[in-house]
Amino acid sequence: MKTNERQSLVRQRFNQRAGKYLRNPISHWIGHSELTALRSMIPTPSQNEKSTVLDFGCGTGRVTAVLLEIGYNVTGYDISPRMLERARVSTGDNADVKFTSDPQDLSGSWPLLVALGVLDYYPDNTVLWQEWGRLVSRGGLLLVTAPNLHSPLARLYVFLSHFTCQAYATTLEKMKSDARLAGFVGIEAQTVFPKAGWGHTIVAGFKKN
Ligand SMILES: C[S@@+](CC[C@H](N)C(=O)[O-])C[C@H]1O[C@@H](n2cnc3c(N)ncnc32)[C@H](O)[C@@H]1O
Repeated sequence: MKTNERQSLVRQRFNQRAGKYLRNPISHWIGHSELTALRSMIPTPSQNEKSTVLDFGCGTGRVTAVLLEIGYNVTGYDISPRMLERARVSTGDNADVKFTSDPQDLSGSWPLLVALGVLDYYPDNTVLWQEWGRLVSRGGLLLVTAPNLHSPLARLYVFLSHFTCQAYATTLEKMKSDARLAGFVGIEAQTVFPKAGWGHTIVAGFKKN
């Protein structure tokens, strides 16, 4: 399946499941561990001017809320309009956030791009890495997650995802190699849930060359 066909399928699945997203308690706990790791990697925003961040694949705005709380000016981008509707409702009126599903709104270069739970859905994620390579500014930071192929829990998640939106697991080595091809260098990585080599999720930070 070509990447754009895969993307349409992912959009369709998330549109269908927007109302149920995060109701699963296991996803909720895993998400909590991912957000804790993410928080430890996010730089403190500048005091003088509003620091901007692109929340790529923002979904219902779970990560967006954390970024706003830290003090960032956030653009939340997602291919699923239904997920974005939920994000708008849960965020409420806030001048520091803008949600969009239009890729044209992303032009420019971002000092920080966060993409939690997006790589999961692409068996070949070359196109995503290339897109991030174009979007992140030189010296900028990219924070991403992916299910860990070395984790029995992640393998179970991949198996069960067949009934919702098929996910794929990977290794940190593969992520580093994809990142390198897109102009990034790996700077920090953790595996969480639990915090061990066999933890469910890889949370990794990359710097743009
Ligand atoms: C598992 S959810 C994660 C949402 C959010 N980042 C979080 O951690 O709660 C994945 C989201 O990524 C979005 N997504 C998947 N592929 C995408 C792509 N190529 N571009 C933008 N968004 C994408 C989906 O529509 C979905 O809302």
